[in-house]
Amino acid sequence: MVSAMVTSALSQLPIYGRDTEKTHASNLDLEVEIARLKREKNAVVLAHYYQDSDIQDVADFLGDSLQLAQAAATTKADVICFAGVHFMAETAKILNPERIVVVPDMEAGCSLADGCPPDKFAAWKAKHPGGIAVSYINCSAAIKALSDYIVTSSNAEKIVASLPKDRPILFAPDKNLGRWLEQRTGRKLELWPGSCLVHDTFSRRKIVALRERHNGAKVLAHPECEEAVLELADYIGSTTNILKFALASADTTFIVATEPGILHQMRKQAPTKEFIAAPPEANCACNECPHMRKNTLEKVYYALRDLEPRLEMDESLRTAARIPIDRMLALS
Ligand code: 13P
Ligand code: SF4
Repeated sequence: MVSAMVTSALSQLPIYGRDTEKTHASNLDLEVEIARLKREKNAVVLAHYYQDSDIQDVADFLGDSLQLAQAAATTKADVICFAGVHFMAETAKILNPERIVVVPDMEAGCSLADGCPPDKFAAWKAKHPGGIAVSYINCSAAIKALSDYIVTSSNAEKIVASLPKDRPILFAPDKNLGRWLEQRTGRKLELWPGSCLVHDTFSRRKIVALRERHNGAKVLAHPECEEAVLELADYIGSTTNILKFALASADTTFIVATEPGILHQMRKQAPTKEFIAAPPEANCACNECPHMRKNTLEKVYYALRDLEPRLEMDESLRTAARIPIDRMLALS
């Protein structure tokens, strides 16, 4: 009797990290409920590889930033539940003004986007007249509206290489990706001094030690990593491209220098291979993105149930931000 009362009381407690007024019926099978809500509301769940594995498992579409933008551009669903971070959901709304876009946690931001405010970006642009402003998709809609091209980690090299040689290129907001693009394209870029708090944490020293312990392990890295880590990499690419490389490779052990959410798909799709998350310098879980991990399966359920939190955007900002995204999609 006491334990039944305790269980009932516990089921009414707010879920950790969510709105306090929302409570969760403990007997709900969230996977089943999410599938029902998707059918009833003609909704899709788009999820990034950095999401918790249970969110990845309920997604209708899973991908890197470019693939998610492409999926958002072509979906016929009435509702898009974007399990990723704010700038990704914003991109989905920019491409889908008539559809409802909900996000499991509106607070899921991005250190790159947060580190590039529009007033400072506009002043930086003004210092480089005639420059072409190329922005990584990890930026706010306001920065997109001030940019000539948007790129992701999987198309940046191709797009930067295609730009006129006689004009300066400004690249924001990730200096690590920008430096890597300079090497790949041979173009000199004016770099905004931003970086990702996750990809900045990997320890070259610990990766070298791991590689020695796992003889023959290949290092796979995202271009948001610091140069000292990229120098060690056997392959550098976007999350999707890292996954594809690992699946196609004849090698069997990989040290993966990006957010470890991607390891779920690697282990699922190549269960006989070994995937090791590259360690951060400090003894912490700071290789996990604190923004991406704000989302939970419960929050996905509530977002679909309540169609909230909903992403809304000023129409003039949306249309201005759409221009460089459309240029990117046409070149991808
Ligand atoms: P991609 O999904 O393009 O690989 O980028 C990773 C990332 O940091 C997304 O925020
Ligand atoms: Fe932003 Fe880095 Fe998190 Fe990606 S991993 S969302 S770049 S903070």
